[in-house]
Amino acid sequence: MFKPEKLIFDGKRIDGRTLDQLRPIKIEVDFLKRADGSCYLEMGKNRVVAAVYGPREAYPRHIQDPTKAVIRYRYNMAPFSVEERKRPGPDRRSVEISKVSKEAFEAVIMKELFPRSVIDIFVEVLQADAGSRTACINAASVALVDAGIPMKGMLTSVAVAKVDGVLVLDPMKEEDNFGEADIPFAFLIRGDRIESIALLQMDGRMTKEEIKEAIKLAKKGAMEIYQMQREAIMKKFLEEGENG
Ligand code: CDP
Repeated sequence: MFKPEKLIFDGKRIDGRTLDQLRPIKIEVDFLKRADGSCYLEMGKNRVVAAVYGPREAYPRHIQDPTKAVIRYRYNMAPFSVEERKRPGPDRRSVEISKVSKEAFEAVIMKELFPRSVIDIFVEVLQADAGSRTACINAASVALVDAGIPMKGMLTSVAVAKVDGVLVLDPMKEEDNFGEADIPFAFLIRGDRIESIALLQMDGRMTKEEIKEAIKLAKKGAMEIYQMQREAIMKKFLEEGENG
């Protein structure tokens, strides 16, 4: 990937966005018929699919927890999803993303309602352009609602990056590659309120002031994504109602 001379020009980014603007988002609920809940989501050039199975009895039995459901989350990148072919199968990066995403969902899913069960969340990246973990969390959250899994709220995820010394919302690949820092966030949102931060990672360096600003910017972006998640879910349930 060639390095642009400047990433910010006249207050605009190389794809024409303002600093606080998200990439275009498209959400389709119930994308796969075999899963209990599913979602296809586009966030800029990211294309991801989430499939949820469960709650179902956990096997083998030794993985069962008598007090709550076990949550499993698998993030996977298709070999053709990136510029240079990605070797199939898990690697350090996908294991890390799966772990932090799982922990974020554990804070949101009401798992105590389903002892001895397992809830499986699979996310597949078909095309990646930075922020694929955030796109996957947004898709998984919608798929969980589609599967009817009780949650304390929606999980909504977006990153903020520092590029050319300024903060930008929802960085794409060039900004992720050539920027100075990058913070992916996931928020628990309930009733139009951000309740808590369920995921926060950090790559690079920011000052304390910049981190405070980044949280503000991420919250603004997350509220916009949350509205789109809600609309997509409502549309699906309304259509279902109309079709009997
Ligand atoms: O995708 P996300 O930003 O959550 O994770 P990352 O590790 O910061 O990766 C940023 C981007 O680098 C990905 O979205 C891909 O576009 C790209 N990437 C790649 O080209 N090849 C890989 N093996 C992994 C990531």
